[in-house]
Amino acid sequence: MTVAALDVSTFAFTEAAPAKVNLYLHVTGRRADGYHLLDSLVVFAGAGDVLHYQPGPEPLSLHVTGRFGRVLDAASTGADNLVLRAAHALQGLRGSQTRLPSGTLVLEKKLPVASGIGGGSADAAAALRLLDRAWNVQASRADLLALAQTLGADVPVCLLSQTMRMEGIGENLTPAAHLPECGMVLVNCGQAVSTPEVFRRRDGAFLPRAPLPDNWADIADVVAFLKQQGNSLEEAACAVCPPVGHVLADIGGQDGCLMARMSGSGATCFGLFATPQAARQAADRLEDAHSAWWVWGGGLV
Ligand code: C5P
Repeated sequence: MTVAALDVSTFAFTEAAPAKVNLYLHVTGRRADGYHLLDSLVVFAGAGDVLHYQPGPEPLSLHVTGRFGRVLDAASTGADNLVLRAAHALQGLRGSQTRLPSGTLVLEKKLPVASGIGGGSADAAAALRLLDRAWNVQASRADLLALAQTLGADVPVCLLSQTMRMEGIGENLTPAAHLPECGMVLVNCGQAVSTPEVFRRRDGAFLPRAPLPDNWADIADVVAFLKQQGNSLEEAACAVCPPVGHVLADIGGQDGCLMARMSGSGATCFGLFATPQAARQAADRLEDAHSAWWVWGGGLV
């Protein structure tokens, strides 16, 4: 594939893969197979990867570009990559067992990899949405959600990319009230944190399911609620990766920051602000002070 052939401005299909952010995350129990049961309020940020697709006769291929593209090695852009697995799973729904998926996929990897904001899951979900459209599969929402679940615990919520309460290990999704207008900063210190290790290092306590209200008066109302909740994995992630603690302190120290917390199993942390503009200003200051960090500021989707 030549570089010119990868000019995504000429590609027929594009789909955003927004970052998921766990505003609170409670470990509420443990399944017999060792997986932890969660209760989490999930929102989606304006930051995200972007997936492009150009139909064509050649066997389906995936090319990864963008700031974090080089982090994915050859192995992870091969058949095991979640985007290609999503494509092949969707192909199974098309009914034809003889036709192989074809065309060119380009993934602009703008989000840090394995960082608690669902990058790989968002990419797989974007592939399901995009290829369902491009291949005119017209899969039902239930079929797409079932496929998503086979690809990973966070893929179903990323498929919907709306504010959701997520329970179980990610399979129980309930629509939740959209947040009032606010801003968000996302910061990643550049160190990958091992999810299994963070779960292992967590203190053994279980937290109750949060008393999530049906609606919000304003962002102050959201923050007052969130401050009563937490991320059950934050302390363990700070122990495994001390820079997470520095990131949290630096976000929390920004003018206008209403609260700072880690997302998922880390290492990415978020800060909430009254407006997207306030978040962008804080992001600019953080970026100036820490050129090695990945920093984003803006609004929610
Ligand atoms: O979902 P992911 O594949 O990133 O999970 C990696 C590991 O993290 C799992 O194998 C498991 O050890 C742990 N985990 C867990 N409970 C969850 C999600 C992940 O114990 N809900």
